[in-house]
Amino acid sequence: MHTAPAPLVDRFGRVHTDLRVSLTDRCNLRCTYCMPAEGLNWLPKAEVLTDDEIVRLAQIAVRRLGIASVRLTGGEPLLRRGLPGLVARLTELGVDLSLTTNGIGLARMAGELKAAGLRRVNVSLDTLRPERYQAITRRDRIADVFAGLAAARDAGLAPVKVNAVPVRGVNDDEIVELVEFAAGHGYLMRFIESMPLDAQGAWDRSAMITADELLGILGARWELEPLRREPTRGGTPPAEEFRIAGTDTVVGVIASVTRPFCGTCDRVRLTADGQLRNCLFATEESDLRALLRGGADDSAIEQAWRNTIARKGPGHEINSADFVQPERPMSAIGG
Ligand code: 5AD
Ligand code: SF4
Repeated sequence: MHTAPAPLVDRFGRVHTDLRVSLTDRCNLRCTYCMPAEGLNWLPKAEVLTDDEIVRLAQIAVRRLGIASVRLTGGEPLLRRGLPGLVARLTELGVDLSLTTNGIGLARMAGELKAAGLRRVNVSLDTLRPERYQAITRRDRIADVFAGLAAARDAGLAPVKVNAVPVRGVNDDEIVELVEFAAGHGYLMRFIESMPLDAQGAWDRSAMITADELLGILGARWELEPLRREPTRGGTPPAEEFRIAGTDTVVGVIASVTRPFCGTCDRVRLTADGQLRNCLFATEESDLRALLRGGADDSAIEQAWRNTIARKGPGHEINSADFVQPERPMSAIGG
């Protein structure tokens, strides 16, 4: 018998219902805004949570903390061995399960993941041009991404979202083309403001294409109609969506830097090595792996989890002079 779990609420009244789980810190790409060209050490295998450990934590999150949606991230989550089996076990918990991937390997796995219960995928693609893709990701794999996107759509992992980070002088001349590409293939295009989460600490604010600029570029080409943001269980979704007038095409903008949505954040994050983070930009983590491996019972883990959320701050301080970039790069936190 289960009573409804007490909500996972912080001192600002934000209720947390969305869990992001990084399944590995490894990646088969080296996106310049995420990883160094080489020389980032992988986590030793013994430090990475096992499937049983992930399922146990997810079970506590769902049954005791009111988590209702889980997004699997990386590094590159498709690199995790036995992923369809883990997806099936998480699906059994009754959560809305989705995955963020670079798309490489998705062509082979989309059908199996759908059958295991995965609902949706977000696929990262910053450019449509092979040479440029290679410059951004340092790998020549764009054909795999196109194939992965099509396979996800055909498998019914819908809506397939395409995520691009527009950067000045890198891919900002392709913004309209990316929207046309996504619309033409039945994907939903989303643009994400570049955030200071790279491994080298080389983020450059002036290179970021802001939401205002992006909407200026799209608005010069099409008439955009803002869509009403439907509140989710926890908060308001971070993507602002616009419809191209007279069409079914919707474009999303995630303005994490210039229009921060921390005030309605409903997310909590678990790293591949079992550290709980109350924010993408948290500088502190809570070691759930040590609790798990030390034999803690479910209620002790629940309490540690609640304590982590109780310490959550009001929001990131990217726009403040005191901003400190987290030690882990994006690849080791998970989007
Ligand atoms: N800023 C914004 N988005 C980023 N991503 C990776 N690094 C950054 C960054 N520094 C995006 C990827 C992917 C998702 C996991 O996060 O493009 O879509
Ligand atoms: Fe890999 Fe994603 Fe980082 Fe690119 S952004 S290197 S695909 S983890």
